[in-house]
Order: sequence, then structure tokens, then C-alpha cells
Amino acid sequence: MQNVREVVENLYWVGANDHRTHLFENIHPIPEGVSYNSYLLLDEKTVLFDTVDWSVCQQFLDNIEYVLDGRPLDYMIINHMEPDHAACLNEVLLRHPETTVISTEKGFYFMTQFNFQVEKKLQVATGDTFSSGKHNFAFVEIPMVHWPEPMVTLDTTNGVLFSADAFGSFKALDGKLFADEVDWDRDWLEPGRRYYTNIVGKYGPHVQAVLKVAADLPIKVICPLHGLVWRKDLGYILDKYDKWSSYTPEKVGVMISYASMYGHTEEVAQLLASEIVKRGETELSVFDVSNTHKSYLISEAFRLSHLVLACPTYNLGVYPPMKEFIADMQALNLQNRTFGLIENGTWAPSSGALMREMIDEMREMYYVDAEATIVSALNHNTRPDIEAMADAIVESMRKQK
Ligand code: FEO
Repeated sequence: MQNVREVVENLYWVGANDHRTHLFENIHPIPEGVSYNSYLLLDEKTVLFDTVDWSVCQQFLDNIEYVLDGRPLDYMIINHMEPDHAACLNEVLLRHPETTVISTEKGFYFMTQFNFQVEKKLQVATGDTFSSGKHNFAFVEIPMVHWPEPMVTLDTTNGVLFSADAFGSFKALDGKLFADEVDWDRDWLEPGRRYYTNIVGKYGPHVQAVLKVAADLPIKVICPLHGLVWRKDLGYILDKYDKWSSYTPEKVGVMISYASMYGHTEEVAQLLASEIVKRGETELSVFDVSNTHKSYLISEAFRLSHLVLACPTYNLGVYPPMKEFIADMQALNLQNRTFGLIENGTWAPSSGALMREMIDEMREMYYVDAEATIVSALNHNTRPDIEAMADAIVESMRKQK
């Protein structure tokens, strides 16, 4: 059965929601699902913008035929070749051999790598334009957001921007389509941030370049390839993207991440949390890195200004889940954060120095003026060190406000 929605006059969302896939990219949990967005314009010529993931191909094909209602599909613009958007390209062409595919040079190159047979091609680059009749389009390549080949397509007739992965989000639409139809801060900010930071987070400078280009374009509607369409308050989502892509914390606050084998390091983390809250700072969260997927940890690390890592020494190294978390921060290029480090060890505590080595490889990372070493378990000798760390963190937070 078809399930479509009108975005603006003659433009239809023909994508699909996916609640069956548990892991996006086979890595990131998506307990609230995800949408793969595709859009179909009925102009003098018909134009399809991207396809969808293979998992929802049948729904998508039904949607296309319903909207086309017997018309040919004249053009298919492929803004992004990653298979969560391009997997159904061949299926569309099998049904519509009349279709001319429009994409970038790299886009076509990747099509050959994925063994797609494309006969009718129109290669475009930044600055090129195209008309489907009443609608005119301008193309802007956006390399490394988040693959090398994507472009965005702007309908200069009505200001609709087909933004590829930019401004996307985890979470299925489930009947909604527009950001103004939901409580975005309550229900979509976290999946939006978790999507951005884990999928595109590494490429902040490239996103910054896109934002600069976007500032000069007459954009009225943003149609991303995942999540909600923006037609109001565009400044709001642009501001979030500006913060995330410039590695600017959304809030001055502290994220305490701990690894704990038997509960002793957890006790230290909880004591530190209490001491910080007692000092009046309540923008604080606590995570056990062993039972929290790294994508959530990364999202929170992008959100807050101060990060405390409390970690046992394990095989004379950093406890593996904590090491993976720090490695993920490195991989995603996180910067401009202030750290507090707490190490634990029964005979040779060294995780503090080793975590610092990893953090020092990142850019613009700072430390509060306190560190703590726990020998097996908290005691009356080490408790003052935790209180001193709370003082140092609160002082540093207040300086950043
Ligand atoms: Fe949603 Fe880069 O693909």
C-alpha cells in the first residue's frame, strides 16, 4: 500500500519508515527506527530525488507508482550514493528504463562500483543548473558530508533544498513529516544529535563550509534524506548544526563516564556527581561505558563542555570500553572540551596517564586543575581528591558560562 505526503505543491515524500533494522550502518542502535526519505516532483517532467534503503524498497516502489499514476519517470537525481539512499536505484531503472539519472562525477563512479547499470546519464557539478519545466534546479557538491560524492540540489523556483545527509536524524517519522508537527526539542533533538555526531561528526569543517554556502542561498524548505522536513524556524536547526560542526558545546555541563568492574569506580563517579550537584551545578549526566552504546556517549560528549572519565587499569592499559569511547572521540574529531581524569588500580594504576595520552592526540582539549588516583576503593585519604575535583570542575564550568 502506498503511503505518501505532500511536501509543497507537486512535491511528494515517497520514502519509508524502518522499524525492523536494529542497527544503523550495522553499528548504531535505532530503537525508535529511522526514515529513508525520497521525494518525487510532478512538473512538466517528473523528477525523483534519491531512492531508499533496500529494507524498505517495496514500500518505496509502491509510493512512486502511486504518485506517478501512470506517468513516466523522466529524471532521477542522486544526491548521495550511500546504499541507505541508493540501494533501490537499479530497481527504479528496471521499472523505468526511460529515466535519466543526474549525479556528480563521483556519484557515477560509485554507481559502477556498486554494479549499477545506468544508461542515461547527466553528470553535473557545482554551478550547473537544470530545468524540469516550471522548476529550475542548482547543484552544489558537498564533499565529505558524509561521503566524498554528495551534492545538494536547490529548487530555485520555490526554495526547496534537497540536502542529502545534512540536517538528517535517526527516528522514524510515523506519520509526521515536518519539524513543526513535533516537539522537536523533546523528541527529536537527541536522535538528531546522535545521528549528526556519529555519522557526520568527523567532518565538521566540511559541514561548516556547507553552512556558509547555505547562508547565501534562498532556502525555504529543507528536505533531508532522513528525518523531518524543515519549513519553519530554519535558523534553529542551522544553529544546532553550526554548534555541532564547530565542536562548540550546546551547554556548559559535565558528563561523567565511568568504567567499573566491581562497583568501586562507579562509587567514585557517583560521589563526584553528588559533590558537583551539591555545589549548584545540575547540568550533569552519568554513564556506565560498559552498558551504554558508544553512539549515545558520543552524542552527549558533543552536547556538554566538561567530560570526566573514571576508569580502572586493565592489563596495564585503559579498560577496553573506555578506550573505545576515547578512540571514538578521536575518530569523530571531537575537540574543545575540558576533561577531569580519575584512575583506579589495585597494584599499578596507570589508566589516568594512558587516557591523557589519547586525549592529548586530539585538538583543543583541556584539563581541570585536579586529577585523582583511587587504589582499589575510595577511602578517607582519596575522598578529598574527589571533592577537590568537584571544586575544579565547578570553577572551570563557571568560567565558561
Ligand atoms: Fe544516510 Fe551517508 O547516508
